[in-house]
Amino acid sequence: MRISYIAGNWKMNTTKKEALDLVTELLNEGSFKNKVLIAPPYTLLDAISNAVKGTNLILGAQNMSTHESGAHTGEVSVLMLRDLGVDTVILGHSERRSIYGESDQIINTKIKLALKHNLNIIFCVGETLEERENGLAEKVVTDQIINGLEGVSDSDMDSITVAYEPVWAIGTGKTSTPEDADSIHRIIRNKIEAIYSKNVSEKLIIQYGGSVKPSNVKELMAKENIDGALVGGAALKAETFIPIMEYNK
Ligand code: PGA
Repeated sequence: MRISYIAGNWKMNTTKKEALDLVTELLNEGSFKNKVLIAPPYTLLDAISNAVKGTNLILGAQNMSTHESGAHTGEVSVLMLRDLGVDTVILGHSERRSIYGESDQIINTKIKLALKHNLNIIFCVGETLEERENGLAEKVVTDQIINGLEGVSDSDMDSITVAYEPVWAIGTGKTSTPEDADSIHRIIRNKIEAIYSKNVSEKLIIQYGGSVKPSNVKELMAKENIDGALVGGAALKAETFIPIMEYNK
């Protein structure tokens, strides 16, 4: 049985006060039967690390540098994330790929660096609308999986969660149908079985992301291959994030 894993990606949102208020609400009013992560912006990781210490809320970061240290103005390294008590890093988000030009190779470098320093990873993949309309969804996602995980071992896969996020569904209000999402999740699981083993593929948590809300989370999570959600907009308010993290309460 795979556990359910709900993650909130706050993106470039929240001031310190807003963030601490939101964490307080989640901790006071939410229940943590499922695994739950929040990924605030870098500037708030220290404050939130203190706020969640000793609780069931897991701290994530939204990105990290390809380098450990040195002359990389404006970048944040894996060592800095570890130093602040970050547990997990989101890598390969479509906004990093499309706006900041991150290739599969860059994402693969980051994945290996995170593994070297014992950070868990949420590894995002997903096709654009154009790719889907051209019948390329399966190929794009499969290539992202193969290239992103190059050189990643069987045992490293214990530290990796995959998030399938069709780019056309992110922040648009359009959600993939549960059936369409499940079929891509199945393709991902089959690919992982082909690269690694049935054991690794059966254990792999695959989150769905793209306009997940309280009103659609249940039907998505009911699908066999959907094990969790990576939530953007709806993660910014306790009133929408708590019903998602408690979808099976
Ligand atoms: P959304 O974002 O829930 O606002 O669509 C999801 C994501 O980008 O992780």
